Amino acid sequence: MIGTANGLAVSITGLGAYVPERVVTNDDLSTMMDTSDEWIVERTGIRERRIAGPEEALSDLALPAARQALEDAGLKGSDIDLLIVATVTPDMAFPATAAIIADELGAHDAGAYDLSAGCTGFMYAVAQAYAMLAGGLAQRALVVGGDVLSKIMDWTDRRTAVLFGDGAGAVVMERVGEGGFLGFELGADGSGGPQLYLPGGGSRTPATVESIADGQHFVQMNGREVFKFATRVLVSSAEAVLAECGRTVDEVDVYVPHQANVRIIDYATHKLGIPDDRVVIDVDRYGNTSSGSIPIALADAKADGRLTAGRLVLMTGMGAGLTWGSGLIEWTDGGTT
Ligand SMILES: CC(C)(COP(=O)(O)OP(=O)(O)OC[C@H]1O[C@@H](n2cnc3c(N)ncnc32)[C@H](O)[C@@H]1OP(=O)(O)O)[C@@H](O)C(=O)NCCC(=O)NCCS
Repeated sequence: MIGTANGLAVSITGLGAYVPERVVTNDDLSTMMDTSDEWIVERTGIRERRIAGPEEALSDLALPAARQALEDAGLKGSDIDLLIVATVTPDMAFPATAAIIADELGAHDAGAYDLSAGCTGFMYAVAQAYAMLAGGLAQRALVVGGDVLSKIMDWTDRRTAVLFGDGAGAVVMERVGEGGFLGFELGADGSGGPQLYLPGGGSRTPATVESIADGQHFVQMNGREVFKFATRVLVSSAEAVLAECGRTVDEVDVYVPHQANVRIIDYATHKLGIPDDRVVIDVDRYGNTSSGSIPIALADAKADGRLTAGRLVLMTGMGAGLTWGSGLIEWTDGGTT
């Protein structure tokens, strides 16, 4: 689906991010599996990632990020009437982590639900929040993107475990006078589902002694196929949303691609023709944090002074599903609340 923002102007008015304290370097990983710092840096650009502790679940990472975003927007939890959490690693299958977070924040009037679209989840959730705000159904939304993928990794599988990290980011979205989101493009190709999936734990393969012993509750991935998909859709989705909004790649001031792998980002950046100094990259420090990746990168960009009013920001996510999604936003200073 693709479309321009033709409702009320809606923007991001608050940003927050949180990653666990524990840093795991590539050298640390090489003591656990047959890998090396050299291989991981050369193939992925990742140097270290944050890993949650045994007691930490998604809501423990999401809450500090959400509180920071609320503070940034000058709002309280009770001001929020829509709360979406994009994740594939909720605290538990149900209730939704969004409901747990809404309760902790005092967002008692909020509609709260989780959304599953792999690493693209944050872009899907932002598009939904945009539509609900522009349509007048919600007044102030909190969108969280976060994952604790370390809990569903096989820590003996070097083909997957080295790529990912834990973290969460959050944005407050409100109506604004002008600027804000210009358009979105979202897509899914379910035929590619088996390229990146978690077979166990759902109704197809419930938890049994056999499915656990068989590794069905760990992430499975065909890295080469996902690489090809990722490089293709990062380019096609960005081009589609820019064309739909009548903008060109030269106008993009800040490019925030999903932080999966520096090689994938470099390929897309060069194919699109975006100068390197306009690209936000933090995958070297956090690995691929799935739904956390784009909001954490946005928070990094804001901390670096790169997100100022009037700047055109292009975000593109891609991941399990297979799914992809882009959003184009003219950055604004705050909401008109
Ligand atoms: C996973 C990925 C880094 C692998 O890089 P690659 O260049 O495609 O490497 P290959 O899979 O061809 O493997 C090359 C060799 O390195 C080995 N290898 C794989 N992982 C390794 C690791 N962590 N350490 C050392 N060697 C490793 C392989 O076994 C293979 O050895 P072989 O040739 O003896 O069989 C790359 O395919 C990728 O980034 N894919 C996208 C993954 C992704 O981003 N997923 C999430 C999307 S949201």
